[in-house]
Amino acid sequence: MPVLGDDFQEGGDAPFDVLSVIGTVMALFAIGVIMARGSNAHAGDTVVGGGNSGGLADELVKRGEACANCGKQGSDTVRLKYCTACRLVKYCGLDCQRAHRKQHKKACKQRAAELKDEQLYSQGHERAEGDFCPICTLPIPLPIGEHCIFKSCCMKRICNGCDLAAEERSMFDCPFCRTPYPGNEANALAMIQTRVEKKDPTAINYLGKKYFFGDLGLQKDMGKVIELWTEAVELGSIEALYNLGIVYDTGNGVKQDKAKAAEFYKKAAMQGHVESRNNLGCSEVEKGNNNRGVRHLLISAQMGYKDSVEAIKRMFMDGNATKAQYAEALKGYQDAVEEMKSHDRDEAKTLLEWKD
Ligand SMILES: *[C@@H]1O[C@H](CO)[C@@H](O)[C@H](O)[C@H]1NC(C)=O
Ligand SMILES: [Zn+2]
Ligand SMILES: [Zn+2]
Ligand SMILES: [Zn+2]
Ligand SMILES: [Zn+2]
Repeated sequence: MPVLGDDFQEGGDAPFDVLSVIGTVMALFAIGVIMARGSNAHAGDTVVGGGNSGGLADELVKRGEACANCGKQGSDTVRLKYCTACRLVKYCGLDCQRAHRKQHKKACKQRAAELKDEQLYSQGHERAEGDFCPICTLPIPLPIGEHCIFKSCCMKRICNGCDLAAEERSMFDCPFCRTPYPGNEANALAMIQTRVEKKDPTAINYLGKKYFFGDLGLQKDMGKVIELWTEAVELGSIEALYNLGIVYDTGNGVKQDKAKAAEFYKKAAMQGHVESRNNLGCSEVEKGNNNRGVRHLLISAQMGYKDSVEAIKRMFMDGNATKAQYAEALKGYQDAVEEMKSHDRDEAKTLLEWKD
């Protein structure tokens, strides 16, 4: 018998399910009570396991109270553990799981895919923390790059409204952390490097972007870019996930790999990254998966992304989305836009339009 420190893995690595162990113990207790009643029980009611096909034995497997392969019930000595990929069945040991694999594989894969989809579509409906302006605390309108200014002193995005308001008060330091602006490229790079050395994921992602474009006197270096973005992802940067998604999606500087791009987009979208959600939707539509595409695009539309509403509108005109879906996208989008409005932002918008 292998040492059972964890559930049996077929992919994932969920923690040991304590509740189900308690459930098993309670169920066994109940069965014990029924059996103890003995003569009062009807024949057949208490036949458990031991070559019994169908009936109670199957029911125990279904409830996760018996090994799906050998039918052995959980006890102090037999600890049943879930197949972590599907959490549909339990086994008494690795040998049983291996013996059962061929028979279980199809149902396991199907359920695992369903579980993944449930997470993919249910998570990330709220904007990520870095999407909020730290001064007015409102979510920044989308596309985010057009509605905020990134400050490399504190690695914060300040919305155009707050930036303009600070300027109008003749405040020319960073309106968030009051650091004077770097003034030249060398100082700006030094500022970023300081935060990179402190392992700030936003700074590491940002430095990667500088290498990507060859800004601040840096030589363009795709190897360095991928290295930095990968490190930023490991430290929790959602933007870096999106950036990796973009380069693999478009094949910009790396070998194009749509599947890899989708994996990055999924991780970012599930953490509230709107453009990633939109891109996932568009790639599903491109593949002809209109239903999956609309589900993604609806989410990004409702988070305030105009491109997603327009994509759904085009799909509706083509008969690929329903009128109700288009209406829902439009309404959600308008509500989200309303929530992102402020007097300062309106003023900044007018000013920027006037400048153009
Ligand atoms: C509608 O679906 C068809 C078939 O999948 C596809 O060829 C077409 O491009 C779609 N139209 C839009 C606007 O997505
Ligand atoms: Zn077994
Ligand atoms: Zn399984
Ligand atoms: Zn603001
Ligand atoms: Zn600052």
